Amino acid sequence: MTTIQRTAVITGATSERGIGLTVARRYAREGWAVVILDLDGEKSAKTAAEIGNEFAVPAFGYEIDVANEASVAAARDAVDAEVRSGSLPAVGALANIAGITSPVPFLETTLELWNKVMAVNATGTYLVTKAFLPGMIENGWGRIVNMSSVSAQRGGGVFGKVPYSSAKAAVLGFTKALARELGDTGVTVNAVTPGAVDTNIRVGTTPELEAAIARDIPLGRTASTEEVAAVITFLSSEDASYLTGTTVDINGGSHMH
Ligand SMILES: NC(=O)c1ccc[n+]([C@@H]2O[C@H](COP(=O)([O-])OP(=O)(O)OC[C@H]3O[C@@H](n4cnc5c(N)ncnc54)[C@H](O)[C@@H]3O)[C@@H](O)[C@H]2O)c1
Repeated sequence: MTTIQRTAVITGATSERGIGLTVARRYAREGWAVVILDLDGEKSAKTAAEIGNEFAVPAFGYEIDVANEASVAAARDAVDAEVRSGSLPAVGALANIAGITSPVPFLETTLELWNKVMAVNATGTYLVTKAFLPGMIENGWGRIVNMSSVSAQRGGGVFGKVPYSSAKAAVLGFTKALARELGDTGVTVNAVTPGAVDTNIRVGTTPELEAAIARDIPLGRTASTEEVAAVITFLSSEDASYLTGTTVDINGGSHMH
């Protein structure tokens, strides 16, 4: 029987073909209790229940808008209540996966789009981390993994993703600065920068574009969500104890440095 020691909180984890759902399933498979936080509360709860049943781990799901401080506080309070009641073990890992893209050429972007993309990808990472970090510090152990993107390192390329690339670059600075600040707390903070991953966020591309993207990748193909999830759960493990402030490039070899 699996020994449940810690809870992993995953934002943006209800999208059927998404990275977050695969990450949540992988945490559960590795014996973590899981909390799914996403925009649709009912879907979050249903997804959590399915994962809980399949992997025989405690699992809860709640509504969250990561860009809204009150919504983040409400979700954190709901999780805290389950921890206090003994239904969930203490939160040990936070995977900030929720994100939106901005497939618009720069001069067609609006301030509204810029603000929204920054709010979800960058401010969301800030707000959710700030909400769950005190508990980790109190326990003297924690793993925070932030979702950036190859777009932060080399621009969004074909998608004209200036706001997206900017927000994902903010996530890298956030990760490094917070990792330094938390050095002696037992909490590590790392980021991942996937290249193209086969999920719904990339709907709207064409087969020709997909072929061109694949040609640009030394491994000759996009990543599976499972390949991204494997890195995120590793960064959340005991074994990743000497990694903090790092960025793991999951890009099939298409490095920029
Ligand atoms: N797919 C790729 O090629 C790729 C590459 C690099 C990075 N990423 C990043 O990985 C993450 C997951 O992307 P995906 O491809 O699985 O996309 P996806 O659209 O399938 O999933 C995104 C999830 O985030 C949730 N979400 C959006 N806004 C939210 C908000 N305000 N509050 C809470 N949840 C919110 C959505 O409901 C959805 O479940 C994103 O941060 C994305 O930028 C994706």
